[in-house]
Amino acid sequence: MKYKADIGVFGGSGLYSLMSDVEEIVVETPYGNPSDKIAIASIGNKRVAFLPRHGKNHSYPPHKIPYKANLYAMKMLGVKGIIATTACGSLKPEIKPGDFVICDDFVDRTWGRGDTYYDGPETKHITGAEPYDPKLRNLAIEICEEMGIRVHKKGIVVVIQGPRFSTKAESRWFSKMGWDVINMTQYPECILAKELGIPYVNISLITDYDAGLEGNEDIKPVTEEEVLRVFNENNNKVKELIFNIIGRLEV
Ligand code: ADE
Repeated sequence: MKYKADIGVFGGSGLYSLMSDVEEIVVETPYGNPSDKIAIASIGNKRVAFLPRHGKNHSYPPHKIPYKANLYAMKMLGVKGIIATTACGSLKPEIKPGDFVICDDFVDRTWGRGDTYYDGPETKHITGAEPYDPKLRNLAIEICEEMGIRVHKKGIVVVIQGPRFSTKAESRWFSKMGWDVINMTQYPECILAKELGIPYVNISLITDYDAGLEGNEDIKPVTEEEVLRVFNENNNKVKELIFNIIGRLEV
């Protein structure tokens, strides 16, 4: 591989570009092509590789994203850490739209996604405990606090298959289980990073209250437009946070 990068960044819904003066490269992997070309540029003294996981034109829905190719491309570039942004719904009143959550665990409700590099004949069972990197999480939390961002220092994300949002009954069930936020893409991304040995942190930006909030009829169930509206409102903050994390990362 001719190109190298220190840090990888995955952009989710609403984050399709990160840097200026990029070199866009096509990376072919043994697992097929990633969602799009990878944009490489410098942030300070670090080389950063950015990939919008849905593709620049959002042509890959969550269940069709080539997760294995995306992660492997970052591995081929030699990144030492991955910062992944996602738009998420909230399952708790105190986690509000516009807040950030640095997830520390997940519940997987997806199906049929390629979620391992160990499909045989080589077999390996990695731990699912601590799927997100504690050091990167601490750094992200610290910088959120310095920036005055409302941040929740941990959270369990339930990852649904999509592309539809949850029913009210599903959403109520997830809340009652004590899960905090909901999304469609954090699995298998974070577990593939773990299989490849790349520290991975998720930055969840809360865009909605999923199917609504019990006892509050004013809050309407989430729509795609609402997710994008709230994400766009916070786009600059998300970018600044990523830049600041990269600035302080030791790689
Ligand atoms: N992404 C943003 N909001 C979401 C929600 N409520 N459910 C699933 N994915 C989401």
